[in-house]
Amino acid sequence: MKVDNLRDKYIEFFESKGHRQIPSAPVVPENDPSVLFNTAGMQPLVPYLMGQPHPYGTRLCDYQKCMRTNDLDEVGDTTHHTFFEMLGNWSLGDYFKQESISWSFELLTKIFEIPIERLAVTVFRGNDIVSADDESANIWRNLGISDKRIKFLGEDDNWWPNMELTGPCGPDTEIFYFRGNDEIPEEFDPEDERWVEIWNNVFMQYNHNEDGTFSELPKKNVDTGMGLERITAVLEGVTDNYASSIWTDVIKKIEEVSKLTYEGNQKAMRIIADHIRSAVFISADPAGIKPSNTDQGYILRRLIRRAIRYAKKLNIDINSNWEEQIAINIIEKYEKYYPELSQNRSVVLEVLKTEKVKFNRTLEKGLKEFEKMIAKVEDGKLDKDHAFRLYDTFGFPIELTVELANELGIKVDEEGFKEKFKVHQEISRAGAKEKFKGGLASTGETETMYHTATHLLNAALKVIVGSDVHQRGSNITTERMRFDFSCDHKLTDEEKQKTEELVNKWIDLGLAVDKKEMRKEEAIESGAECMFIEKYPDMVTVYTIGNVSAELCGGPHVENTNKLKHIKIKKEEAVSSGIRRIKAVFVD
Ligand code: SER
Repeated sequence: MKVDNLRDKYIEFFESKGHRQIPSAPVVPENDPSVLFNTAGMQPLVPYLMGQPHPYGTRLCDYQKCMRTNDLDEVGDTTHHTFFEMLGNWSLGDYFKQESISWSFELLTKIFEIPIERLAVTVFRGNDIVSADDESANIWRNLGISDKRIKFLGEDDNWWPNMELTGPCGPDTEIFYFRGNDEIPEEFDPEDERWVEIWNNVFMQYNHNEDGTFSELPKKNVDTGMGLERITAVLEGVTDNYASSIWTDVIKKIEEVSKLTYEGNQKAMRIIADHIRSAVFISADPAGIKPSNTDQGYILRRLIRRAIRYAKKLNIDINSNWEEQIAINIIEKYEKYYPELSQNRSVVLEVLKTEKVKFNRTLEKGLKEFEKMIAKVEDGKLDKDHAFRLYDTFGFPIELTVELANELGIKVDEEGFKEKFKVHQEISRAGAKEKFKGGLASTGETETMYHTATHLLNAALKVIVGSDVHQRGSNITTERMRFDFSCDHKLTDEEKQKTEELVNKWIDLGLAVDKKEMRKEEAIESGAECMFIEKYPDMVTVYTIGNVSAELCGGPHVENTNKLKHIKIKKEEAVSSGIRRIKAVFVD
């Protein structure tokens, strides 16, 4: 079966069942520092699964950008991806098992035209919290799935996400498809790899609390997720995901730039295709991630650098615009569904190119150095000092060194590397603090001061630049404040100067900073500024500064603006389309 417009078919189907489509949330979660990326379609919906009303109602569907990086180094085989899309539909205390299972069955058999003899399911066997899910099993039976195709499994298989993670969770029923041309066995064996899982319907009715207990959620929800890459491959009858229509044109582009065929070069081509696609999506995200040595920036760096190394294996001329050609192919393929790709096209291409140039400068020398080091290895293990030198001097992410070494059957002292890395980080952090000593009292105090100054900056930008300026992010260190805001143009020198003057005037005026607890609705009605209203609890804290600023905020703040120093805007730049960033510091 050739599969076009699966996303559209999926959405249309669930719209016909009363669902509303919600837009894909950014791949970098907003306001959730506990994870680097959205790893599942339900992640942005956690507050609603926990009971908060969703503005779009109780039946939702979407396709969501997801990223799983635990298996980054496994990418290269037929099934692993870092970035992927998840088709999802939700009931927030609306329908439950009967509708959810029947609709999944209807979509698969009627719209996707999967013959029923290729389907099998698992349901939950039961544990101390809930009993066996006979209800789901019965629904499947009534739809025509035979008993031999329904297996009851335990917590490891049919509880999502798992028994350890806290947050909303519950038993699930998973749907499997028999792949291949072999005769389909009558009895379903979940261990038989010819049966592939294609859809997961979770009955989210519990919260796993921090103290380890499970409590019932206010409402019984349904959360389903189907990986687009996998279902496409399955429907198209290919066992290599990268041979499906999701990838064919990207692979073709890689064949073109390398002048080689996919056949015989699969691993390298899959890595390049996957990593460039992920790098495109991360760098197009509104969060404005750039390659760096921490967090999402480090993942982005690893993806680009690993792609470059494999491009080199294919003898692609790294100095040519190969990465741009592949990225453009990906942008044009996806922009209809994810408009941020075309909006941030130049940012994406710039990120790839800059990182490429940076890495390419040292890659050749680094590889030579690596070979020399390997020649001297005696006990089959590359020591921590050498691994660190490759990182520090040649920009080799440790994972790259490990991969290179493993290809030669050599191990790397990763633990030793990590210790050395930590010491190195502490030294540079201490260095940063050292630079700042003298002028300012303690770290906490400076950050608090910057925090209050951020509110003033936000308010001043609204006065000087326009009332449609809104905060899009902020980050404070002991050395500076960084503030991201919506704005459609580069600030003029005059705008910058006036903004700075206004903030400094407010500082001189000695305005009182007041803290007040109130209901969220009351805060919104009063016009208080906030970033993501739906993510706040019912009772919120509002900080007001004189009559110039009111913001929902957790604090802490100084009690009067006369405790601040004057600020100076050091930099104003674009983060992504329609979002600007100011870096400012206190001056004496
Ligand atoms: N949350 C479940 C999953 O990710 C279903 O959407 O598989």
